[in-house]
Parts: sequence; structure tokens; C-alpha cells
Amino acid sequence: MQTIKKVRRLFGNAFAKSNLPEREGAGTPGLNVKKLNVSIGGNHILKDVSVEIPHKKITCIIGPSGCGKSTLLKTINRLIGSVDKVSIDGHIFVDGEDIYGKKVEVTHIRKKMGLVSQRPTPLPMSIFDNIAFGCRIHGTRNKKTLQRIVEENLRAAGLWEEVKDRLHAPASSLSIGQQQRLCLARGLAIKPQFILGDESTSALDPISSRHIEDLFVELKKDYGVVLVTHTLPQALRIADHVVFMYLGEIIEAGSAEDLFKNPKHELTKKYLSGVFS
Ligand SMILES: Nc1ncnc2c1ncn2[C@@H]1O[C@H](COP(=O)(O)OP(=O)(O)OP(=O)(O)O)[C@@H](O)[C@H]1O
Ligand SMILES: [Mg+2]
Repeated sequence: MQTIKKVRRLFGNAFAKSNLPEREGAGTPGLNVKKLNVSIGGNHILKDVSVEIPHKKITCIIGPSGCGKSTLLKTINRLIGSVDKVSIDGHIFVDGEDIYGKKVEVTHIRKKMGLVSQRPTPLPMSIFDNIAFGCRIHGTRNKKTLQRIVEENLRAAGLWEEVKDRLHAPASSLSIGQQQRLCLARGLAIKPQFILGDESTSALDPISSRHIEDLFVELKKDYGVVLVTHTLPQALRIADHVVFMYLGEIIEAGSAEDLFKNPKHELTKKYLSGVFS
């Protein structure tokens, strides 16, 4: 019980049990941001942002530092509400449901998104328990079921072979790259529709970084993947769609091929040619 309280303190209520019914199969899976405006402490951070993010594709959000990429991702995951003095106007539809609708429960929304942050954030417990934790909170107690879930998700995150003989070792004993894959597996275990990554490879060495990149490519068969990245070569390698932001606005969005080969806006051309970063 102490551990659960401690983890809730650290990670908010993302693992809390939702009382709302599942909406499996409801609507078309997809993320649709409409006329989103976000202000923090009176500063207008996101300005009339509208974008459609498809399921089963990789969408990379690019743009110079401070342009609002992380704020957009946090708003999509409803993490932004936890910051004081925030005002949000507009709509974000996930699976046809407005996540800022009056009756929507935050935990119900977060269950649809698996967030992989910049640095790995393993829970202070074993490798096995890191994956099983969310499922236990959601009521799964059966040992065999939990073992299956742990194995399935560690395999999906490309970590199973490396840890299958030490599942009960502390997660902190893993390398940073392995910890990041563990966090990805933990995110997958709650069966989200979208995986959101905010520079999730930037703290990793080049080999671990490519490993995570390859996993994202593999995972797009089943999930929508939305990645904020500072690394243009990474976006070039893996993006199907690209969203370019500048000073809180979406300047250009489209297929990766179009945007990289034929950028339409002058600002996009300048950003891609490295005039500003
Ligand atoms: N909690 C906050 N309070 C006040 N201002 C904030 C807060 N969070 C973000 N901002 C401001 O909003 C703007 C966008 O920040 P954001 O972190 O979304 O940018 P970013 O594109 O992710 O930048 P980077 O590439 O450096 O991570 C910045 O000017 C930032 O200072
Ligand atoms: Mg950021």
C-alpha cells in the first residue's frame, strides 16, 4: 500500500482505476486537435493549433526550442492541467471522444496514451512489478495472467531476451537504454491506442537510441506513434507524417515525403536548412 501511495505521489493518478466503461471499438482511432489555444500564466503558448494525427503511423513534431512541442504533447495527454494558471480552449478528440469534455475522466484518457518521456522513469520496484503494476491497479491479480502480460510487453519492447532470467531484480539495475525500453513496455501494458514520446531517445547512446527508434517503427503496426524530436535525421528516418511548429503555431503539416522534399512555407525551408534550431 505504501508503494502504491508513493508511486501515485510520483506519477500522479495515471494508474488509477477508471470507473468509466471501456469504449473499445468506438469511433475511428485517431487523434484530432481542433482550434487548440493554451495559455500559461497569461502567455499564449499554443495558438489555434489544428492537426489530425493518424493511427498506425508515426507522426513527428518538429520545430525550434520553445515553440510549444512539449506543451502540445502534454495537452494531448492531459498532463497540462496539473500546471497552475493554465487556460485551455478548443478540442482534442481521441477515438471520437473530446478529452476535454466535461464528463471525461482523466484516467480514462491517459489509458489511451502511453507516454515515454525524455529520461526513463522506472518505478522503484522490480522489472516484473514495473510492468504488472498498472494491471494490478486495474484489478488483474491472477499470477499466470500477469506473467503473460509481463512477457508479452517485454517482448514488444525488445527487452525480454535481456531480462527473462532476472525479472525480480530492481529496475534500477538496468542500463539507461534498457530502462527506457522498460518504460515503453510499461506504457504498452495498459493497452493504449497512442504512444507519445517527448524526445524519448535524446538521453540515450546512439545504439540504444536506434533500438528505440526501430521499436517505434515496429509498434506503428498496432499503435499511433507521436514523437517530439529535435533530431531531423531521426524524423527523416522514421516519420510518416511531420508537423512543423514555430512560436506556438503549426506552420506546416503533411506527409514526411512532401514536407521534407517540398516544404511550402519559408519558415519550414529555413528550419530544414538549419538557419535556426
Ligand atoms: N509551466 C510553464 N510555465 C510557464 N511557461 C511555460 C511552461 N511550460 C512551457 N512554458 C513556455 O511555453 C513555451 C513552449 O514550451 P515547450 O516546452 O512546449 O517548448 P518545446 O518546443 O518543447 O521546447 P524544447 O524543444 O526546448 O523542449 C516556452 O516559451 C516555455 O517557456
Ligand atoms: Mg520540449
